[in-house]
Order: sequence, then structure tokens, then C-alpha cells
Amino acid sequence: MASTASTEHRTDPAWLPAAAFRPLGARRVRVAGDGPLVGTVRAEVAAAVAGHGGALVADGPVDLDLVAADGDGEAFTVERTGGTTIVRAEGGPGLLYGLHHVVRRGEAAFDGDLPAERHAPRRAIRMLDHWDNIDVDPLMGQVERGYAGGSIFYADGGVRADLGRVAAYARLLGSIGVNRVALNNVNVHRTEARLLTDLLPDVARLAEVFRPHGVAVHLSVGFAAPITLGGLPTADPLDPAVREWWERTTAAVYAAIPDFGGYVVKADSEGQPGPFAYGRDHADGANALARALEPHGGTVFWRAFVYDHRQDWRDRGTDRARAAHDHFAPLDGAFDDNVVLQVKYGPMDFQVREPVSPVFAAMPGTRLAAEFQVTQEYTGQQKHVCHLVPQWSEVLGFGLRGGEPVADLVDGVVAVSNVGDDEFWTGHPLAQANLFGFGRLAWDDRLDPAAVLDEWIGLTFEDPSVRGPLHEVLDGSWHTYERYTAPLGVGFMVNPGHHYGPSVDGYEYTQWGTYHFADRDGVGVDRTRATGTGFTGQYPAPWREVYESVGSCPDELLLFFHHVPYDHVLRSGKTVVQHIYDAHFAGVEEVGRMREAWATLEGRVPAALFDRVTALLAEQARCATEWRDQVNTYFLRKSGVPDERGRRIF
Ligand code: GCU
Repeated sequence: MASTASTEHRTDPAWLPAAAFRPLGARRVRVAGDGPLVGTVRAEVAAAVAGHGGALVADGPVDLDLVAADGDGEAFTVERTGGTTIVRAEGGPGLLYGLHHVVRRGEAAFDGDLPAERHAPRRAIRMLDHWDNIDVDPLMGQVERGYAGGSIFYADGGVRADLGRVAAYARLLGSIGVNRVALNNVNVHRTEARLLTDLLPDVARLAEVFRPHGVAVHLSVGFAAPITLGGLPTADPLDPAVREWWERTTAAVYAAIPDFGGYVVKADSEGQPGPFAYGRDHADGANALARALEPHGGTVFWRAFVYDHRQDWRDRGTDRARAAHDHFAPLDGAFDDNVVLQVKYGPMDFQVREPVSPVFAAMPGTRLAAEFQVTQEYTGQQKHVCHLVPQWSEVLGFGLRGGEPVADLVDGVVAVSNVGDDEFWTGHPLAQANLFGFGRLAWDDRLDPAAVLDEWIGLTFEDPSVRGPLHEVLDGSWHTYERYTAPLGVGFMVNPGHHYGPSVDGYEYTQWGTYHFADRDGVGVDRTRATGTGFTGQYPAPWREVYESVGSCPDELLLFFHHVPYDHVLRSGKTVVQHIYDAHFAGVEEVGRMREAWATLEGRVPAALFDRVTALLAEQARCATEWRDQVNTYFLRKSGVPDERGRRIF
């Protein structure tokens, strides 16, 4: 990565380089409307026309007419007639989204005629959670599960004095329709807890930077804040003094930030405090905070990631996959209207392959959000190319209840951010495509991931000839990652703690509930009703039957739901053990092809970016080889079954 040192303080323009504004900037443009977001659009257009020879005009004939109604409407209509492209927005945010729609379309936005076409987000909540800390942990760094350097918000023990880079980030988010951001880690430590109180003026500064881009700020708060910050003897959600503390504290937040979005809460999870300590349930806990936020229009994002993280590995009756449904499904209907239950997409923990969480189908009387991880904790930590947009698209499109896709069962789409203070924002420059794609899918889950990637490529790179090789590198990279890591949905097999690279038994005898149960005869977790943990019973028809039977369970999830012998024949016709060998050899070969495709781009993409990706691909190849050899060797030694193709396994 020789080139990165010299460019440390530069900021990559990501998908908004000046060149992306050329088609618009070379034309005559009018911007009509009032309000801060219209002001943002006007400033964008002014910069574009100044750079590309067009004009921002108040009247007369124009090529592009951007017109906003008053208010907060997010939708816009675009049409082209008589040589003018007209965007009519239903409010300030809609005008910003309409502008970026035009930018994404490039020259095509000014070509021919287009009948009026209305664009509206499919859901109101499109949110990124930052797991940033103010303090730097010697082991974890500053951003929990962050792989792109330190925090863009915090430095030197507080909110940064210079928020210029945050402004550039807010602009990127506004351009893809992300409208909410949580500013701190869900594991709320001592210093960060104070963002709610004495550090509030700094949060207000951040809110000011996000506001012109239509993004509301949120804070992660600790459930025990009435004790730790308020000095009360209890945080019991039904205690009047506790309620009064939340009301008072929340009112002070809104006095400083009138458009504050709300709170994110991780309670009774992995050591975080919660309502269980007081014999209360999660609805009691969430509603106490909801009632403090309600008069101000705020929302509580209450996380469903609750499980026993002190499990005895000898205990075969406890199944972490069951936990969210066991805890929350009985509470359906008990949450206030301004509570959104934030549910990880799978029942475990952001693995490369998991079934869709059954919680999405189980709580029709509760507002839900699907939570994804743009940060690549378990998918290569932004050292590996792993384009996750197809995964999210598959989850959101999955017909879980009566054929209804997950997307129609949720009010929101939330993800853990992958951004840090790295020059390229996301550490791996190609991981920007995940951030971009998250915003686009959150806006409309029905978009085709390949088309979204095409938009990102078109905006980010000037030379159109890079499209083919970039698709080769990115399109199949999720499946490639899946092939060389833990097989057939069984998950984990990562090094404990930091979670990078293989360790097949790394979590096998731990308290975390993440086991594969491999022995000399077979592998996988029996989650059936018949003989296992009964997790399949949490699904509605047809999935409860599909997953229950080895015969109908999809191959890619077989070991998530079943413990099978190594010679079990998959639907693909291969035995389980031969599949493991073949997939791991194939995965590493695919990384080799990704490297070849990338190498053809030398001189066609910026040199610093080329060098960074080249170096990271070398690391990906090394790590994938390590995965292949450890996993294959492990299963050869356990099973004694040789590879039928006689390849080298150690
Ligand atoms: C994962 C991750 C943790 C995080 C947790 C969460 O388990 O490893 O760092 O705190 O998810 O989602 O709360």
C-alpha cells in the first residue's frame, strides 16, 4: 500500500466526483423552492455549472427545472418534454433525491422524452448505525468492528473540531437517500454515554452538518443511564423517577436539536444493562424511552439481538438462533407506536449465510426494521472484496410469511456503517459499493443489485471501459466468500475476538452459542422439531416444513438446520464432504480470477485506488488460501474421506 502514506489526508470523492455532475453542470438549470434542502440543491447546481460551463438561472428557457413544494416530502416526479427535464419534488428532501436521480442518469437524463414517473422511497426509515467510540480501545480501535481507520466524528477525546469530512460524508448519504444516522456504538461506554448530557452541544454541531442533507441524528443510549448519568438508585422502567429522568433528559436533547431522530438501545444483550434486572420485559423498557421521545416526535430503535452469551457449550438444549423470537414474539403488540424493533437479518449474527430471521414474520403488531452489516465483520473486514448488495436484496425479497417479502414486513432498513477516517472512506475502495448499494436498496428493495452496482461504477469512474472488469470482480464476490469460508450455512469458524481468518474450532467450546458440532461422522446443528432444538418451529409455513426435512432444506442452509453424515448427498448430487472440498478449491480459484480481472484496470482507474485494491486482493488471496487449507484439512482429518479428485489437502 505504498501510495496510501503520501495521500493520508486526502479524501476520495467516492461516487460524487466533479465529473459525475458534468451532464447537469453543462446545462441551464433552474432551482425553485425554499428551505435548507433546496439550498443544498442550489449549492450543488451552482458548483456544477461553475465547473462545467452551464448556468444557474432564475427564469427563461432551461434544460433542467428543479421545483420543490414546501415541506418534508421525499417523493419526486421526473419527466422530460420539449427539451426540458423537470423534477417536481413533494418537498425539500424530494428535491435532493430528484437531483441525484438526475446525476445518476447522466446524459440519459437529457435525452428524448420521458413521461412523468414518480419516485418514492419504499420505506421511511433508511438508517446507518455507527459503532464509533470517542475513546480508542487498545484492542478494538476506535470503531467497534470498524475496518476503515478511526472515527470520522471523534478525535482527541471529543467530537472533532473540524467537521469538514463529516459534511462530505453527510452529502454522500443524502445522495443515496439515507435519512437517519446513529452517532455512537450500541455498546455505550462511559465517555460516549455523556453525548446525551454534557457533550450534547457537540452532538448539536454534528446535527447541523447532517441537517442540510436530510439526515437526522440519533444516539445510542445505555439503559442504565438514569443511574450512571442521573445518579438515581435504579433504572427500573416503571419507576416514576426514572421516567421523569428520561423525560427531562430527552426534552433537553430536543431543546438543543429540534429534529433529533431518537435513541438506539441494546439492552440485556452481551452484558449491556436492560429491563430484566428489574423483572420487567423489553416492552416495558422500550416504552419508557418511547414515552419520553413521543411528545417530540422521536423514535426508539430497540434491538432484538438478545441471547444468552454465557451459554455452557455442553448444554445442547439452548439454541442462540431461537433467542430473539423466544424473547420478542410473545411481546407482539405491546410496543408503543414510536418503537421500532431492530432485528438482525438472520437469527445468529451477520454471517455470510443464514436463514432469514423468523422474527420478521412473527410480529405483525410491531414496527420492525431489518438490520444489516455494511461493515464486513464476518465477511472479510474490508480486506476482502465481498459485495453484499445481492445478499441484502435476497433477504429483503425473501417471501417469509404467506409469500410476503421481508421488505413488506418492515418499516425500516438499518445497517452498521463501514465508514472510518480512511482516505477511501471504507478502507477497501470497492467496499464503497456496499455503502452506496445499501442506500439504494433501502430506498427501493426491488432494484436489481447488478444495476445498482452499475450506477455506482458509472458515477465513481470516468472510463466506461472499467465496467466489465469491475462486474467480474464484484458481482459474484459474496458467493466466492461463502465458498472459501464456513460451509453450507454452518457459520463462524473464525478466529475468536477479532473474527478475521479461519479457526474451525475457534468458537466450538466457548460460551457464545456458535457451534458446528463436527465429529468423525458428520457436521451441522440439529435445529429440527423432531430431534433438535425446535428452531424450525419458529417459521411460518411453508418454511417450517421446508427447513425441517433434510430432503427439502436448501443446500446452502443444510448445516444450519441439520446434523448430517459426511456422505449425505446434497440436492446438488455431491456428498457434504466433497462439496466442502470443491467449494473451497473453487473459492480460491475465483479469487485468482478476481485478481486477473482487476489487474487489467491498471492505468484506467486512479493509481492510488489501483494500488490499494491490488494490495488488498493479495491479502484476500492469502487469507482465502488459509481458509481453504484449514477447513479442508480439518474435514479430511475428521472424516477420513479423501478428495475424489485427489487434490492436495494437508
Ligand atoms: C456482534 C459484534 C459485536 C456487536 C454485536 C451487536 O456480535 O461482534 O461487536 O456488539 O454484534 O450487534 O450488538
